[in-house]
Amino acid sequence: MASQKKKLGWMEWLRGWVSVIWEMLFQRILASHLQNPMPLPPLSDVTCIVTGATSGIGLEIARQLAEAGAHVVMAVRKTKVAHELIQKWQNEWSGLGAPLNIEVMEVDLLSLESVLRFAETWNARAAPLHVLINNAGIFSIGEPQHFSKDGYEEHLQVNHLAPALLSLLLLPSLIRGSPSRIINVNSIMHAIGFVDTEDMNVVSGRRKYTSVVGYSSSKLAQVMFSSIMHKRLPAEAGISVVCVSPGIVHTNVARDLPKIVQAAYHLIPYFIFSAKEGSRSALFAATDPQVPEYCGVLKADDWPVCAYISYECRPMNASEEAHSVETSQKVWEKTLELVGLPSDALERLLEGGEVQCKLGGKKD
Ligand SMILES: NC(=O)c1ccc[n+]([C@@H]2O[C@H](COP(=O)([O-])OP(=O)(O)OC[C@H]3O[C@@H](n4cnc5c(N)ncnc54)[C@H](OP(=O)(O)O)[C@@H]3O)[C@@H](O)[C@H]2O)c1
Repeated sequence: MASQKKKLGWMEWLRGWVSVIWEMLFQRILASHLQNPMPLPPLSDVTCIVTGATSGIGLEIARQLAEAGAHVVMAVRKTKVAHELIQKWQNEWSGLGAPLNIEVMEVDLLSLESVLRFAETWNARAAPLHVLINNAGIFSIGEPQHFSKDGYEEHLQVNHLAPALLSLLLLPSLIRGSPSRIINVNSIMHAIGFVDTEDMNVVSGRRKYTSVVGYSSSKLAQVMFSSIMHKRLPAEAGISVVCVSPGIVHTNVARDLPKIVQAAYHLIPYFIFSAKEGSRSALFAATDPQVPEYCGVLKADDWPVCAYISYECRPMNASEEAHSVETSQKVWEKTLELVGLPSDALERLLEGGEVQCKLGGKKD
């Protein structure tokens, strides 16, 4: 039996970094064909949940979807900030069309119980959900390793486990809204990530923890989980699962950087997208009519990775490691275990059944 891969091969690692640097240097040129803001079709009758909608890319996504007529649910931990934003947007929008249809619901992705409560509250409405945008994320650059109260490394929990749990628990509403979409705001950094399914928390000492390891692995885990979800959802369910790369974007994601690095970051505006530019791939994936067709083609071809849309709003190939069906399957199984769901949760929810979520997972 082949021995289990312990880390990314150095060629894969090098190719990953080349992709990251390429995106950073050439994104503006390669995406110059895109309009900013991205024109959206009329979206009345469409309900969207956007996580992390109080800042950066998520804020732009929520605002633009609402201005196109969608019913937008800002799923956030700072509800006061969200209400203030809505007030501001309504004032600025006044006279330009019908009042924006936006509401706020609280969720803290650092607590799986909060995710569970959010999903229960939303599902209790028995209303259709057409688009779930898993945007909220953290990149605690240079910080030491932190764990959530559920016992998981924080990048793993916020960027992968919590959105995975949310996507699964909201399936009943997404089925009601079918054709519907789950859009995961991922990152080109997934290309330098590696997931050790026996050590998702990076505590065994086999790999040295750094925030880059935590972030890139969480983003790769999201691609792998999404790929299996895409595979397991029957075409008849009409739910498309898509990952997107927003580009390298000027947001609050760099809030933890040392002040001097932040200053340098602000000095290179030519290369870095604004949050509006960074919102385009998610908005495209959420609204373009060809996206579900593309997901259907990938499914029919048994392609090992779910749809991945680049910052240029074009299909792109995820990293070589993301193509490992075996590891993706392990990531799927391990994720369900860590969030306390049974291994057949997706199938049970699709059949209209209920699943029990046993929270309070422990570090592996
Ligand atoms: N900026 C980039 O260059 C870049 C590149 C690739 C991918 N991305 C991805 O894009 C997404 C959005 O990031 P951004 O750049 O817009 O950063 P950002 O400005 O820091 O926004 C992140 C959002 O996530 C929310 N969030 C963080 N932790 C949360 C938690 N525990 N529960 C609920 N919400 C939480 C934040 O809420 P608070 O305001 O309450 O903290 C904030 O609204 C992330 O998934 C990120 O990984 C960004």
